[in-house]
Amino acid sequence: MFLALVAALVSQSVFIARAHRKSHEPMPYNPSPEAQKYIDRLVGSGSATAFSEGRSMPRHVAIIMDGNGRWAQERGLPRIEGHRGGIDAVRSVARACRKLDIPYLTLYAFSTENWRRPRTEVAALMKLLRDFLRKEIPEMVENEIRLAAIGDLKRLPVYVQHQMEKTRKATAEGKKMQLGLALSYGSRDEITNAVKRISQKVKQGTLKISDIDCQVVSDHLYTAAMPDPDLLIRTSGEFRVSNYLLWQIAYAEIHITKVLWPDFRDVDFYQAVLDYLDRDRRFGGVQSK
Ligand code: FPP
Repeated sequence: MFLALVAALVSQSVFIARAHRKSHEPMPYNPSPEAQKYIDRLVGSGSATAFSEGRSMPRHVAIIMDGNGRWAQERGLPRIEGHRGGIDAVRSVARACRKLDIPYLTLYAFSTENWRRPRTEVAALMKLLRDFLRKEIPEMVENEIRLAAIGDLKRLPVYVQHQMEKTRKATAEGKKMQLGLALSYGSRDEITNAVKRISQKVKQGTLKISDIDCQVVSDHLYTAAMPDPDLLIRTSGEFRVSNYLLWQIAYAEIHITKVLWPDFRDVDFYQAVLDYLDRDRRFGGVQSK
């Protein structure tokens, strides 16, 4: 009887806490005082915000999440613990991105080359991915974030494909931000597939060679419905683009940080955006900000 009473009280207080959060604070994101300073600087009401200086936020941020293995190694842990730690970074960055109202975030979670890793590491990564996709649904729905995935998704284990489809459907109405995961993704494969599909249309007579332009190529990539990334972030200090969105990053600003991915947090993301806002983007022209 006593236990039943306790259980009822606990479930009621959980319900009240949820209802309270829903009406007052849609996002379970409590920025640290340091993060809040960055937010104020970027979008707050202060006089020196990036907006008031007439600069515009990136519409699409793409990230190469690197350094999980080294992070684990530094701590004498198995590599998979680095990937597990990387999930906290994913959460923190997604919240920061949403806070800045940036509509597209695309994370390089698994490359076509990553299939060459030991089977145990690949299997553990796939399970982490499935669990992440399952657990994040409520927060994504609450914050109007939809899931998208790009890559050769048919190569993923069926249980990951199923969960992905469930999460995609559950979050499909999210209009504020797209959280994109590049999985079994390789840019050269993506471009090669686009060439094949375009050639097929030419062969069938539905497309003329003279009509093939950059837009036609873009329209045949996995990212057809997305704007090109404005900002590419790579962690762990490596200066490479590693077969990631090669066509799409033609004019992206690149921010490289030595921080290893599992240590990357909202504050690091805000710093990258500030760095981006400081760049003089000319797109091959001469105008200056
Ligand atoms: C690169 O670090 C990272 C990966 C290959 C996987 C990234 C995966 C995650 C962050 C976790 C799962 C992701 C989601 C979205 C749930 P590395 O292993 O190559 O590191 P190293 O260069 O130090 O060895």
